[in-house]
Amino acid sequence: MKTEEQKRRPSKKPRAHTASSKGPSAVVRIGVIGFGYWGPNLVRNFQDLDRSRVVAVADLRKSVLTPLAKRYPALRLTTVHQEILRDPAVDAVVIATPVSTHFELAQTALQAGKHVLVEKPLAASSSEGTELINLARRKGRILMVGHTFEYNPAVLKVAELLKSQELGELYYIDSVRVNLGRYQSDGRNVIWDLAPHDLSIILHWVGKIPQRVSAFGQAYLQKGTADVAFIRMEFPGGTLAHVHLSWLAPAKIRRMTLVGSKKMVLYDDLDPSEKLKIADRGAHLDANSTEVRVDYRMGDVVSPHLDFKEPLKTECEHFLDSIFGNRPPRTDGENGNRVVRILEAADQSMKEGGRVISL
Ligand SMILES: NC(=O)c1ccc[n+]([C@@H]2O[C@H](COP(=O)([O-])OP(=O)(O)OC[C@H]3O[C@@H](n4cnc5c(N)ncnc54)[C@H](O)[C@@H]3O)[C@@H](O)[C@H]2O)c1
Repeated sequence: MKTEEQKRRPSKKPRAHTASSKGPSAVVRIGVIGFGYWGPNLVRNFQDLDRSRVVAVADLRKSVLTPLAKRYPALRLTTVHQEILRDPAVDAVVIATPVSTHFELAQTALQAGKHVLVEKPLAASSSEGTELINLARRKGRILMVGHTFEYNPAVLKVAELLKSQELGELYYIDSVRVNLGRYQSDGRNVIWDLAPHDLSIILHWVGKIPQRVSAFGQAYLQKGTADVAFIRMEFPGGTLAHVHLSWLAPAKIRRMTLVGSKKMVLYDDLDPSEKLKIADRGAHLDANSTEVRVDYRMGDVVSPHLDFKEPLKTECEHFLDSIFGNRPPRTDGENGNRVVRILEAADQSMKEGGRVISL
């Protein structure tokens, strides 16, 4: 016997339509390029959603595709990504390859009239990013960047706290994203690998572009490829942000601290049950005192309940919403290119010994 939930859900996915003829029951046919570490998560999510169907997967390495054939026998598997890009039965292309390949793959996909979800960072330079934005506009296609943390309930909760002024004036943000490895196959340094997450989160929270960016770092293992870096950003209004990135750390840490004039927040993405802690703590100068006297407030620390849903699932759904609604996604090309501009500035500053770069 069917459960109520099974009765409500269609037993089969609706028939696929082409991107241009989408009706209310249409399914977006997805081609995924890149099936390394992250690609399988995208395939799983798009395959699970009712409004999309993964029809083809490409990876240069045949060995990673072989297990897929058993799990999804209907999938077309190929080592030649061009087969996906020129396939009229593919409506949207999802790119999960190293950043050095993002521009060419996204450009060819958009030129072929496909919608594109490209993994972070959008491109290897902001000029490439701008070209993609303009091309998507000309072609009338959706261009979205996989800034997964902008779909994360903890990050969204902090954005709410900031908007409602619960934290007061935001003084500074400190972020630590460190672990042991993984060195990138395409020679990109730790800034390009790890910082896109911190930057997209911080820009989402602050809602402004930093005025000044500087960074310093070191290449310990591979000459010319920094494996440790520290980025500093100054925002209009005085908010500061600091990001510590490393592939050479004894433990994995994903921790962000926000200090406001009223409250403080600790966000630990690795904490399974209490990702967010809001501390009613602060300090202020006693204006009535003739000497310098600081009063400290040591109030409660609360951990709000978060309805946790896999952020990548929300991201994939948003991509489909944007295609069906024909409206720009929250993490569109412009959003992606803002992050790329800061990555470029931080990388440049690091190469010049920490020179402050104005944006
Ligand atoms: N949103 C997130 O949280 C998140 C997490 C991890 C990685 N990523 C991003 O995903 C992308 C991929 O990262 P990864 O860690 O999976 O890398 P990876 O090196 O593990 O996998 C990349 C795969 O792409 C394949 N590939 C490269 N060029 C190709 C081409 N032209 N055609 C077909 N296949 C090709 C490689 O063979 C490899 O299997 C990067 O942009 C990365 O920043 C995002």
